[in-house]
Amino acid sequence: MSFLSATLSRVKPSPTIAVTTKAAELKAAGRDVIGLGAGEPDFDTPQNIKDAAIAAINAGKTKYTAVDGIPELKKAICEKFKRENGLVYEPAQVTVNSGGKQTLYNALMATLNPGDEVIIPAPYWVSYPDMVLLAGGTPVAVEASLETSFKLTPDQLEAAITEKTKWFIFNSPSNPTGAGYSRDELKALTDVLMRHPHVWVMTDDMYEHLAYDDFEFCTPAQVEPGLYDRTLTCNGVSKAYAMTGWRIGYAAGPKELIAAMRKVQSQSTSNPCSVSQYAALEALTGPQDYLAANNEIFVRRRNLVVSMLSEIEGVTCPVPEGAFYVYPSIAGLIGKTTPKGVKIETDEDFATALLEDHGVAVVFGAAFGLSPNFRVSYATSDEALKEACSRIQAFCATLV
Ligand SMILES: Cc1ncc(COP(=O)(O)O)c(C=O)c1O
Repeated sequence: MSFLSATLSRVKPSPTIAVTTKAAELKAAGRDVIGLGAGEPDFDTPQNIKDAAIAAINAGKTKYTAVDGIPELKKAICEKFKRENGLVYEPAQVTVNSGGKQTLYNALMATLNPGDEVIIPAPYWVSYPDMVLLAGGTPVAVEASLETSFKLTPDQLEAAITEKTKWFIFNSPSNPTGAGYSRDELKALTDVLMRHPHVWVMTDDMYEHLAYDDFEFCTPAQVEPGLYDRTLTCNGVSKAYAMTGWRIGYAAGPKELIAAMRKVQSQSTSNPCSVSQYAALEALTGPQDYLAANNEIFVRRRNLVVSMLSEIEGVTCPVPEGAFYVYPSIAGLIGKTTPKGVKIETDEDFATALLEDHGVAVVFGAAFGLSPNFRVSYATSDEALKEACSRIQAFCATLV
């Protein structure tokens, strides 16, 4: 019998981390590699946020805090939900955690029993199914196709719900597609959920502020107040405020759920880093003007990548509403062969050959539950993106 737990054997390591590691190995071996795998903004954390953290250190805010967040930050989070989402919460309904990842993990650990099903629209963020497995539940992936711009339809949601369904995980704008649900599209889904009172909603709004053109972000409990009592609204400072390393995520929802999540956290990590909490407080309460400035840069990069990839025969690249990813389909390239004689049978074959022969690291679609596609993160410089897209064009042109 293995020394390791049976639960762990059902879980796979993060494929996005595997791609990043392989790219780093090739770089270390002297290869010219452009990484388009990273899930984080290339911008530095804004200075006012860094200054708040330094001030917190100097003021001795370096001790344990309340397990799920300092009162000032919880208050600021309540204000944020009211101001930006029209949602009214009190501090006892708020939890602060070590990154958005821990928020979701706490919620799943606090609620799942063996046999409980969690509906996850695919393509999905790689961690959802494995976190459900770790917590002892059963992930139920439902494929949202290119034809619906990678968005789940109400009929698909309806068909996936069983009496064992506990959660529906919702993510808009999405990692890995960048797809964002309009208010009407979301309302059509919440109408389905209103017919199934035993299903709870875990909405991962991590990319809320990374929304472009005239896309209007909205979140389930805002669109359908009838879901307020069974919705956990999750968010965090990692992506919008370029704070991935600081590790602060948060959520609001029913008090009993928040208390159960606190219990999980109290017996695992305790409080999130004290200094990071003060930094997050400044992020939420300080100036917000750089959000729009960053978005201008992201829109320019998105347009560059979509237009260069769309020129490739065999590649279809929808224009996403938000986040910093595109998720092109390579259906038209499957079955072709590289100059080295490698047959491209899967999107993993495509990503491997692209990395080995042309030095561009992307993440293959199978990792996100929908193939044949690949994910490009455009959170890198215009120059690197131009060069990488030229190389992808050159690679695809060699396929026969
Ligand atoms: C959709 C989504 N949710 C949550 C997270 C986790 O964010 P954090 O770095 O705050 O744990 C990520 C990070 O990649 C993400 O893409």
